[in-house]
Amino acid sequence: MLQALQQLPPDPILGLSAACRADPNPHKVDLTIGIYMDEQGLCPVFDAVQIAQRALIEEETSKAYLAAAGDESFNTGLQRLVLGADSAALLEGRVTSIQTPGGCGALRIGAEIVHAAAPNAKVWVSDPTWPVHIPLLGSVGLEFHSYRYYDAASHGVNFDGMVEDLKNAVAGDVVLLHGCCHNPCGADLTLAQWEVIAELAEKQGFTPFIDFAYQGLGDGLEEDAAGLRLLVSRLPEVIVAASCSKNLGLYRERVGAAIFVCNDAASARAILSQAQSAARRVYSMPPAHGALLAGRVLSDDRLGGIWRTELVAMCQRINGLRSELRAALEARCGGDYAFIEREKGMFSFLGLSAAQAVRLREEHSVYMLDSSRINVAGVNAGNIDYIAESVAKVL
Ligand SMILES: Cc1ncc(COP(=O)(O)O)c(C=O)c1O
Repeated sequence: MLQALQQLPPDPILGLSAACRADPNPHKVDLTIGIYMDEQGLCPVFDAVQIAQRALIEEETSKAYLAAAGDESFNTGLQRLVLGADSAALLEGRVTSIQTPGGCGALRIGAEIVHAAAPNAKVWVSDPTWPVHIPLLGSVGLEFHSYRYYDAASHGVNFDGMVEDLKNAVAGDVVLLHGCCHNPCGADLTLAQWEVIAELAEKQGFTPFIDFAYQGLGDGLEEDAAGLRLLVSRLPEVIVAASCSKNLGLYRERVGAAIFVCNDAASARAILSQAQSAARRVYSMPPAHGALLAGRVLSDDRLGGIWRTELVAMCQRINGLRSELRAALEARCGGDYAFIEREKGMFSFLGLSAAQAVRLREEHSVYMLDSSRINVAGVNAGNIDYIAESVAKVL
């Protein structure tokens, strides 16, 4: 039976990162995978998380399963972080959430709920979107349509195209939006544009499904949530896939939550039971360690304060790198790279062709996706000149 299966090609992102690790060139640079890296090229553990971890190890008395919905202080803390502690939907008791293995688990559980509620729902995804959205949401049997989003010529959002396309999304459809720090392009909606999306959703009745994997890495925790909170304040139903991989640095611990803003409290209770049943079918029980750490950080004022300060520093460093990369590229290559500074979060398209991206890998060991998406957080003082010089050589 197993022999009937063929070997698959490597994952387009993870495969390139593995190729970089195997590259003997001492100047190699990995700008592929979306993890935050510090000046030393390391993905650090937050101090707040280390403190929480020490306390957890001291105090933990059991490794029995968590509750099916996950850790309560984690769920409550994350709902407040995402929606705002003063969210009317929260105060009205019409929000529920389930702890999931990362944002990916949240996307999958969200998709399971959408499929259970509306098996013929179409999911509208931005063009381009994070490639993993397609298998994560598609494997439950949902159908996709795409809406125009990124305009390569202006390096910005083609908002007119987006609105025109979303006029075809109807009640019973789901529109997948990137809450902030769009992956792969880094081009985000303005608050005025989020207003227009809210109006469209009100008028046409589609349900927003917000992938919220980078809160705090664009402009700040509150600023990055502004568009999402606007939709929640205006619409009866919103689904959010939240992740603590990036903003708490808990990547490998697999911490996230599917948050459902429902029409009323009774519907929220029903959805929680459905989400628990979906999780039982997919992976049964949530992993504990990372969520217990995140729950401590999010529910403890002192730890929360330490974490917020660290996150601000991380966000400022990324934004600083954006300015430095712009300057380095303009100095070496000429042209206008101001878009890198305008974009948010970890990603940008450099605007190179696939052939140029391949040459960068093969001739200079600078690894980026064929789309020329780079992880800005992989840039540092030690490699920025080499990156800019290499880009100039392939242009
Ligand atoms: C757009 C987007 N959504 C969701 C995720 C979820 O990540 P995780 O499952 O590691 O929390 C990621 C991670 O890279 C992402 O880039």
